[in-house]
This record gives sequence, C-alpha cells and structure tokens, in this order.
Amino acid sequence: MKNIAVLCSGFGSNLQAIINSVKKGKIKAKISLVASDRIDAYALVRARRAGIPILYAAPFEFKKREDYDNFIARNLKERKIDLVVLAGYMRLLSAGFVRQFKNKILNIHPSLLPSFKGTNGIKDALDYGAKLTGVTVHLVDEALDHGPIILQGAVNIKEKDTEETLAERIHKLEHRLYPQAIRLFAEGKLVVKGRKVLVKK
Ligand code: GRF
Repeated sequence: MKNIAVLCSGFGSNLQAIINSVKKGKIKAKISLVASDRIDAYALVRARRAGIPILYAAPFEFKKREDYDNFIARNLKERKIDLVVLAGYMRLLSAGFVRQFKNKILNIHPSLLPSFKGTNGIKDALDYGAKLTGVTVHLVDEALDHGPIILQGAVNIKEKDTEETLAERIHKLEHRLYPQAIRLFAEGKLVVKGRKVLVKK
C-alpha cells in the first residue's frame, strides 16, 4: 500500500475529501503525514481529528527555501512516502525537491491549465470574461502550474457568478477529481510519457 503525504497551507477542504475517500476504501493508500508551513492552517485540525501525524515547520526558521524543502524532503523519506499531494500548499517547491520526488508530486489548480496559472485562478478566469473554466490535477515539475496533466474537469461560468459562487462549484469538482487522480496513482494506473499522462484501463 502506498504512503501518501499531503502538504497544505490553509483550509484543507481537499485534504478532507482525500481523508474521506481513504476512509471509505476508495483510495487504497495510507495518509502517513500532513505537513504545513502555517501553524494556523485548519488542515492541521482536520489531520489531527483523523489521527494522521502532522508536521509543522516554520519557514522563518530556515535561511533558504532549499533548506526548508530539504527538511521536509528528509521527513518524507524517513516515512517512506511514495506520493506527495499538494493541497492548497502556498509555497513553490525548489528544483531539488521536485527532482527527489520526480513524477510523485501532484497538485490541484482551480482553472483549466495552461490558462489562469498562479494564485488567483478562479478570479482571473471570471475577470477575463471566460465562459468556461475548471479544475486541473497535474504532476508537479519545476515550473509553476506546469507539469503533465492527469485529469481536468470543466465548469461553466454564468453571467451572474461572483467569485464566491464560482469558487463553490469549482471546489465541489476539486473534491471529486483529486481523490480520483490519487486513486489512479495509488493503483499504478498512470503512465507518464513526456507531457502526456496515459491512464491504464
Ligand atoms: C484549492 O482551490 C486548490 O485548487 C488550490 O488551493 C485551494 C485549496 O483549498 N491549489 P483547500 O485548502 O483544499 O480547501
């Protein structure tokens, strides 16, 4: 069974969806660690409630981003983590970290990549006047919101949408897609060929 670590900085609704899917037996893997760069992340409360070990490391205690990432990487290696899941993790991972876990880091982004990269994916799509946006689950490489795409789902933007109403539908879709992608990974069904991720039947 695969060992998963989830890295979060905030509310942790995606973490919760993953915890629920593991509990229901839909994802056959173990969440062995939830790590956060913020002590006030509600995700840590969710992890504690679910009995998952947590790791909080304060970025200001490390000189460089690389030092911080190495500390996290060491912890993940010690726990024999097979898959690193970024769920609202607000730090860009250093190249060294990404290399150590090549094709073993997943991220979820609230837009149809490569459109609307960055921290405001939902608002940016709305402000741009897009009619369609969505959710992307992808492998993490060294560039921001860039790695090979595993799954995408679309959400229509309605004329009356506000950032809040649109975000609500996007998050709902995220909570379906992320566990699905993690299940595929855990079952060894993802084959990476360059930028393409093939899903084995
Ligand atoms: C999600 O919208 C995700 O797409 C983005 O950060 C948000 C995290 O939300 N990367 P939560 O902490 O899982 O509730």
